[in-house]
Amino acid sequence: MILNMEHICKSYYRGKNEVPVLHDVSLRVEEGDYLAIMGPSGSGKTTLMNLIGCLDKPSSGSYHLAGEDVSVKKDNALAELRNKYIGFVFQSFYLLPKMSALENVALPLMYAGVPKKERVDRAREALCSVGLEDRMKFLPNQLSGGQCQRIAIARAMAGRPTLLLADEPTGALDTASGEQIMELFSKINAGGGTIVMITHEPSIAAHAKTICHIRDGRLSAPEEVRL
Ligand SMILES: Nc1ncnc2c1ncn2[C@@H]1O[C@H](COP(=O)(O)OP(=O)(O)OP(=O)(O)O)[C@@H](O)[C@H]1O
Ligand SMILES: [Mg+2]
Repeated sequence: MILNMEHICKSYYRGKNEVPVLHDVSLRVEEGDYLAIMGPSGSGKTTLMNLIGCLDKPSSGSYHLAGEDVSVKKDNALAELRNKYIGFVFQSFYLLPKMSALENVALPLMYAGVPKKERVDRAREALCSVGLEDRMKFLPNQLSGGQCQRIAIARAMAGRPTLLLADEPTGALDTASGEQIMELFSKINAGGGTIVMITHEPSIAAHAKTICHIRDGRLSAPEEVRL
């Protein structure tokens, strides 16, 4: 089991006022799963993604990621878990504007302590696998939105994550580029990659193998996607 959340609640505090956002959320993800989490604006999708990605901790309940108990970790241990297990893809690509595609993909590997030659090799390989072998030296502003998102996916995959976590990965893209990103996700999943994707678009969620719905901070049981 890659991810096991049991009875998770999450509240934010505004001064002394508690704002409950997630209520009794339980979720399991196994190796090779491809799950879409769908829900309207304000339903708690990003809050849940931040918990899954170890960017934040639950208020109560238990969360195990790759067998490790996330809820008892301190902040720097949380960052370690995140680097070790999670590859992130966001709606806005968060590429460094003065770095080439290759440098953007290789940079996190430097922080992970990967030696230089291997960093470059892995970054090249990741960019080839997203179809950007002819764009390695380009800067982000010389590339389309879809290409930038493919760099972000290459960056996430170059770290060989246990879980690829995506929050509205096609939210900033036109339909055709969005479909390309979905093809890439299907390819990653077919190669054994595990994906959790957050989206409010049914046509995007339909690419996953299972879908959970979140409403007012409550998560439904997963449903199989029928093609
Ligand atoms: N730091 C915070 N402090 C207080 N309340 C917050 C905070 N972050 C989020 N919330 C509240 O939690 C609820 C869920 O927010 P969240 O960002 O998880 O929604 P979402 O489903 O991702 O929405 P969207 O589709 O618009 O991105 C909202 O009502 C929001 O106001
Ligand atoms: Mg959100």
